[in-house]
Parts: sequence; structure tokens; C-alpha cells
Amino acid sequence: MVEKEHLNTTLICRIQEHANQSVTLNGWVYNSRRSGKIGFLLLRDGTGTIQCIIVKNDVGEDQFESFKSLTQESSLSVSGTVVENERAPGGFEIQVNTLTIHQVSEEYPITPKEHGTEFLMNNRHLWLRSKRQHAILKIRHEIIKATRDFFDSNDFTLVDTPILTPNVCEGTTTLFETEYFGQRAFLAQSGQLYGEANAFAFGRQYNFGPTFRAEKSKTRRHLLEFWMVEPEIAYCDLDEDMVWAEKMLEFIVQRVLENRKFELEILERDTSMLEKVKAPFPRISYTECVDMLKEGGFDFQWGGDFGSPEETYISEKFDRPVFVHRFPSAIKAFYMKRDPENEDLVMGMDVLAPEGYGEIIGGSEREADHDTLLKRINADGLSLDDFQWYLDLRKYGSVPHAGFGMGLERTVTWICKLSHLRETIPFPRMYGRLRP
Ligand code: 4AD
Ligand code: MG
Repeated sequence: MVEKEHLNTTLICRIQEHANQSVTLNGWVYNSRRSGKIGFLLLRDGTGTIQCIIVKNDVGEDQFESFKSLTQESSLSVSGTVVENERAPGGFEIQVNTLTIHQVSEEYPITPKEHGTEFLMNNRHLWLRSKRQHAILKIRHEIIKATRDFFDSNDFTLVDTPILTPNVCEGTTTLFETEYFGQRAFLAQSGQLYGEANAFAFGRQYNFGPTFRAEKSKTRRHLLEFWMVEPEIAYCDLDEDMVWAEKMLEFIVQRVLENRKFELEILERDTSMLEKVKAPFPRISYTECVDMLKEGGFDFQWGGDFGSPEETYISEKFDRPVFVHRFPSAIKAFYMKRDPENEDLVMGMDVLAPEGYGEIIGGSEREADHDTLLKRINADGLSLDDFQWYLDLRKYGSVPHAGFGMGLERTVTWICKLSHLRETIPFPRMYGRLRP
């Protein structure tokens, strides 16, 4: 903790520590109204809101006049006494003796009335101040913190992976390409390949950073820039990989339920479905899923990739997240280990979130044999020059290893029960949108 005497600001979220004391709060006008010679100001500082009472006789004529000039989102500091009042929202209010106005805001474009999505997205830099957006991003923060705490407390090391890379990881159709002083570089689709090198150096590693995919369509679950946490574990098979994934999700959801009740209430999230997120999760093979889909009336052939309707149908059959494992090798990435019992399958898994949310995690056991991997890289037409270092890992102490990637924004979308992932990242990058 930084000692209070070094700081300019007392935070609203800490106000109960200052009962009956004089404080100065710095913030913005959330709301203000007057009743005769008394002013009521709802002050927002980013950590909470508090009611401030401004009495004309206490602050004087001039200050009361300047209070009257305040518009929504004007910035100001208030000094006064913290008073307990059980009728005030939050249980405390400020009896103000001084107001210092920093800027009287121009007419604020976002008002309590309904606005269209396009308008709000164009004003994303301001929209972030709204109660609902604030709640979602607080939950996003909690999920990031819980994820890191989970891995940190299980002897993982956070090892960062590069964003500029010559390597294709998840197929050539979604690459963002950039010029790199005469060479071709891509923005990382995943940190996984480097995560594998890190796992052989650290045993258990995770990387957690932005990843990029040039998705040329607008959907509710695709961003062009999204955050992914990717554990990679040496001496790990597909079964253990699934245990890590379910224990991590259980930990994250329980943490959000414990620490973010207030935000979940703002979002009117029914938490009964979240309470059920307890390991173990059901494990169903891809082939069993195909049978389920056929029984459900889907015209779906073995070998196809699940789209959003298929994933939604499967996930709605269960009351908790579900693993789908052993996909056809033809639809999965070159690095996945083949099923020793059936060459047509890979030792891969996805986690589908409940309530119809679909895939939030993709992972697999990796191909650990040099010659087999070399064959796959060639078969996919990938450049051997760029993959030499990755093949090296299979030459110098190769071991079975596995990992997965969890899409942060999809996880936030599900936990908050939102209809679109655009609200789960401060500044979403989507097809057709680069600003703000
Ligand atoms: O299933 P994916 O493509 O797997 C990988 O990238 C592996 N290399 C991860 C690993 O094993 N280390 O992506 C993983 C997750 C998906 O399940 C999804 O949650 C998210 O990343 N994701 C996206 N999220 C938002 N927008 C997109 N365009 C996404 N593409 C994938
Ligand atoms: Mg996937």
C-alpha cells in the first residue's frame, strides 16, 4: 500500500475508512439536483459513487452558484465531512464545505435515454464511464486476476510470447501481415508455438496477451484483436490438459461470484447457472456430438466443423461447460497429436460454455515426434525456414506436452451473459471498425 499522505485522492470505494473525517474527493458529476437552498450531487470517481450535500449557508453564495452551473460529467473536487447515513446509497454521504470545479462539461452526448449501438460504439471513449460498461470491465479485470492467480498458485511461470512473428499458427486465412524491413511478418494468431519452447524451459508456463485474426465477417463472437491466456505444460497428455482447463474455469467463476456480486447485480445476471460451474465437466467425443446433432435433426456429416448453431445446440444440453474431444484431423491444426488409436482423429479438445455460448477454449496434446511433425508442416505447405526453431524442440529433449487457449472476451461474454462480445473489451477491433 502507498501511504495516504503521499496521495492526492481519497477513493469513494474506501470511504468507510474515513467516517466523521474531513476528506477531499476528486471526480465527475454523475447527477445533480437542487431543492431550494440544498444541492444534491452524485459524484463518480471511477471506484464508486457517493452523494454529496451542498447547503447554501455552509458553502456561501458564490460556491452555491457555481454548483448550479455543473453539468453531467463536469470534473470537480469536493471537500467535506464523511457522514454515515443509512438512507444514502452506499451508507455514507459528504457534507460539503468547498467545491473546486476543474471543467464544466459541454453537453454530454450519452444520456440516460436509449442510444443505438452504432452511436455508442462511435462514442466508446465516453461510453466506458457508464454503469453497465464499468461493471463489465470490472468483471473482465477480475477474470484476468483470477486466471493469473490460478496459474501462479499452481507453479506456472508467466512467460511472454512475441506479437510480431514469421509463424502461422492457426491457418493462413486469418493472417494480419505487415512489412518487417524487407521480410514478411504476421501479428500473432496465438502465442502457443513459443509457449511450447517456454514449457520445455519452465515446465509449466502460461502466456497471456493480445492475439490477432483477420476475421472478415461481423459476428457476435469474433474480434480482430482479442486476448488469450495460453497455458502450456510439459509431460502433460490430453486427459491432464482437460483437468487444468476445468479447474481453471471453476476457479475463475467462483472468484467472480465471490468478488463481483455488485457488478453481476448491475448486469442482472442470474447466477444460479454460474454456481453450477464445478469440475468435473462432461467429456464427449466429436463423434458422439455428431450423433447428438443427427438425433436433434441437424443435417450434419461426420468430418465437418461445428458452426455456431451446432455448438449452441450441444452446449444447451448440459448445465455446465462441456469438453468436446478427438476431432477429425482434417479440420484441426498441424501441431495437434494424432490419436494413437485412430489416425483420422486428433488429441484435441474444445470447451463449450453453457447457456448456448459455444467455444471459449481450444487446446490439444501436441505432436512431439520430429519426423511426424515435419511431415505435417510440409503437408500444410508451411515454410520450413520459419519452423526450424519449432522442430528443434523435438530434437532436444522432446516430451509429451499439451496446452490450451482461453479467449478472454468470450469468457467475459458468457460470465456476464451478454448477447455480443463487443462490450467485453475497452476498445473493440471488429470488421469495419478501427475507431475510436
Ligand atoms: O481455438 P483457437 O484457435 O486455439 C488456438 O489458438 C490454440 N493455439 C490455443 C492453444 O492451444 N494454446 O483459439 C482459442 C480460443 C477460442 O476458443 C476462442 O475462445 C478464442 O480463442 N478466439 C477468439 N475470440 C474472439 N475473437 C476471435 N476471432 C477468436 N478466435 C479465437
Ligand atoms: Mg478453436
